[in-house]
Amino acid sequence: SIERTFSILKPNAVAKNAIGSIYSRFEHAGFTIVAAKMLHLTREQAAGFYAEHDGKPFFNGLLDFMTSGPVVVQVLESENAVQRYRDLMGATNPANALAGTLRADYADSMTENAVHGSDSLASAVREIAYFFSDDEVCQRTR
Ligand code: CMP
Repeated sequence: SIERTFSILKPNAVAKNAIGSIYSRFEHAGFTIVAAKMLHLTREQAAGFYAEHDGKPFFNGLLDFMTSGPVVVQVLESENAVQRYRDLMGATNPANALAGTLRADYADSMTENAVHGSDSLASAVREIAYFFSDDEVCQRTR
């Protein structure tokens, strides 16, 4: 069925001037971008978003990285969007990311892995609502 998933272009991807290239990859893969904005996360915003990882050894480094520069957040729509976007991103650890995936091409390390994507439909609903109000998610009428 048609789903929406949530995506972040992380600070290292933005710093590489790769926003347009990665948006092209989204569109060529058949995703419709239905909401988008750039923002520089506060530590509180990043901690709230990644609350499930609070207490893990990588949590503080993750917050340092995610607040180190602007990010671009977007909502992607397609058939089976959650799984299809995870396939496009590749493995969390870029050492395991298959050739042709976004992380194989843009990730620098496990933490600086270029892109985020929701891990389930329930996460997608929560994550979209964390960054976008209902009126910021657009319906494509043509
Ligand atoms: P993301 O998909 O945004 O979800 C959590 C993030 O934590 C992950 O991508 C990485 O950027 C970062 N991270 C760093 N170390 C780890 C780890 N060992 N396991 C999972 N995520 C990690």
